[in-house]
Amino acid sequence: MNIHDTISGLRAGLKHAGRVVLVPTMGNLHDGHISLMQQARAHGNSVLVSIFVNRLQFRPGEDFEKYPRTFAQDCARLSAAGVDHLFAPCEAEMYPTPQQYYVEPPADQINILEGEFRPGHFRGVTTVVLKLFNIAQPQVALFGKKDYQQMMVLSNMTRDLALPIEIVAAETVRAADGLALSSRNGFLSAQERAEAPRLHRELARVREAIINGERNYVRLERLAMTELQANGWQPNYVAIRRQLDLQPPQAGDKALVVLGAAMLGGTRLIDNLEV
Ligand code: PAF
Repeated sequence: MNIHDTISGLRAGLKHAGRVVLVPTMGNLHDGHISLMQQARAHGNSVLVSIFVNRLQFRPGEDFEKYPRTFAQDCARLSAAGVDHLFAPCEAEMYPTPQQYYVEPPADQINILEGEFRPGHFRGVTTVVLKLFNIAQPQVALFGKKDYQQMMVLSNMTRDLALPIEIVAAETVRAADGLALSSRNGFLSAQERAEAPRLHRELARVREAIINGERNYVRLERLAMTELQANGWQPNYVAIRRQLDLQPPQAGDKALVVLGAAMLGGTRLIDNLEV
């Protein structure tokens, strides 16, 4: 695997790389990420992974400082997965001067769900991802469906700005007990880890009820939140939305997604299930 820490080095390294598939990450790679790398192979000639913990998408007081940085371990996993190129810039390479230009996503896409609880988060994500796109100029980029709203925002950005990049959505990878794999799972105590799959179970219960014909969505959302609360969680939201734009469903909308976010102890977990 070729490791690049500068923009010029990466561009030189990609000169004869053919169709490049980019998988942007913040490192601390788990099996969910590795599954993305494996899926990436089918979409081009060279798989490029980026590792960069992007300060712009964290608010003061969020977990930027304590976000796990496991570079040596990540490199070993990426090599074993057959990744061709790794781009791992330092902060001074990505942001040599304070960032002044941002990609501003539309309010109706970011004032909801994750955006409501993490103001400024998506603006940081779109800005760094556009920058990564410009740096690497990939033909394809892969993002996991676990961050469903991020997927939607980045697909819309790519379409709206006419970027010549195909966005591929990859399925969420789960532990045997249903917990969606996430770097933040490492923050859970043993007791919290045992409790954590409840979020997935509650979302699955909501999905089941919808499939069985229940249309009182507000009631379903409330029941799931109450159940989480009763088991020691502090839910931010459980929401039934349209897959297309994550707005509340209208009568007749069929392609839905159930999304949830909740604090378990000091760790914020998110998950979703398409209906
Ligand atoms: O999903 C992530 O890990 C990050 O938000 C991303 C897309 C790498 C941008 O920093």
